[in-house]
Amino acid sequence: MTHILTYPIGASVTLADLEDNPHPILHKLRAAEPVSWLPVLDGWLVTRREEAIVVMRDAKTYTVDHPAFSTARVVGPSMLSLDGDAHRRHRDPFEEPFRRRAVHSRFSQIIIEYINDLIDGFVADGRAELRRDFAGPVAVKTMIAALGLEGTAVADVLSWYDTIVETVTRVTAGEPISQAGRDAYAALRDHLLPVLRRQPDSSLLAAASGMAQGLLDEQIVSNAAVLLFGGIETTEGMIANALYFLLTNPKVLTVVRDKPNALPAVIEESLRLEPAAAVVDRYAVRNVQLGSAAIRAGELVRVSLAGANRDPATFANPDRFDPFRPHLQSHVTFAQGPHVCLGLHLARLEAHHALAGVIKRLPNLQLQKNKIATDEVRPRGLVFRKPAALYVLWV
Ligand code: HEM
Repeated sequence: MTHILTYPIGASVTLADLEDNPHPILHKLRAAEPVSWLPVLDGWLVTRREEAIVVMRDAKTYTVDHPAFSTARVVGPSMLSLDGDAHRRHRDPFEEPFRRRAVHSRFSQIIIEYINDLIDGFVADGRAELRRDFAGPVAVKTMIAALGLEGTAVADVLSWYDTIVETVTRVTAGEPISQAGRDAYAALRDHLLPVLRRQPDSSLLAAASGMAQGLLDEQIVSNAAVLLFGGIETTEGMIANALYFLLTNPKVLTVVRDKPNALPAVIEESLRLEPAAAVVDRYAVRNVQLGSAAIRAGELVRVSLAGANRDPATFANPDRFDPFRPHLQSHVTFAQGPHVCLGLHLARLEAHHALAGVIKRLPNLQLQKNKIATDEVRPRGLVFRKPAALYVLWV
């Protein structure tokens, strides 16, 4: 009750506000209640960049190691669900193969090939739906290669992925782990275990396995499953959101056609405005003061990356899509601190080649206006944000 009186804007927020176009309410919260109690979340929401960074960097106070996170119950403990020394032990073997240079040399060529194959498949049609038929497959195929699962049918990997994600969602809602969930994880594990023994140059997972002195095979597999979660939905959203911004800003599209070296800025600005994963969750380990909020041990602290990324203290005219603005890279879309996204170089590489391929090979690319209203193409979603579909045509 006290919270409701102290945080009237937070008390008024609905899930629909956060899901569709959250930016107006995030602005109001940031201005008046930068760390606010939202009854609809049964937790705190942090919308100012400064406090958002404090939370993400301080894993001793704000932890992911909490029973409310159900992923660990389905796939076992991993870097995503641990903090401190255990977190480092699980994450360390993956650091080297995920470095920028290693990622570029391992993946550039294969990503370009995937992208050309995908575009070859629809270029003659003159039209396509770029989210499900392009952005999604780029993400899935890249993760299959990263995990050394090239011999496995894409449909199988996707069905294990969907079933495990659904199981985690149900377990979060209080249901027991289903047999289907156990079977899907067992199938994924059985396909991943042989990869751990292969040559390090055969896949990113084999390379990480070669470096994982302190981890059991089962633990490496848990982390590989987490890579799959980290690398599919978010990457599909990232590419789809960047395409959305290009298609709704034709002048910028013209600029990048002429000057491909402007592409990284377009991708960064799109990452800032619509982070494909809009929030990260932590639990307070102890009573702690954050700004003017008195947080109690055990409470949920949700960091709004979307809110932090439009903080006017760092980004002037924060709602404007402006790839030529200063401090482009100051967004926090890949988080910060010990859980900073492990796949950020790979994700950026995928986005770069996906956009470059589309721009190069699909002239006069535009949204199919009769198919879906521009307003409905807007990214939406409470946690994962992306357009429902991107119907386009070209001539
Ligand atoms: C190749 C694609 C990707 C892979 C393999 C990947 C993998 C991962 C992994 C393993 C983590 C957990 C790191 C840890 O807990 O120590 C992580 C964290 C994170 N990733 Fe990614 N990721 C990818 C793409 C993306 C994209 C495209 C976005 C957003 C646009 C994103 C946003 C995040 C965020 C916000 C976190 C922090 C989660 C937290 O702190 O709770 N990732 N990623």
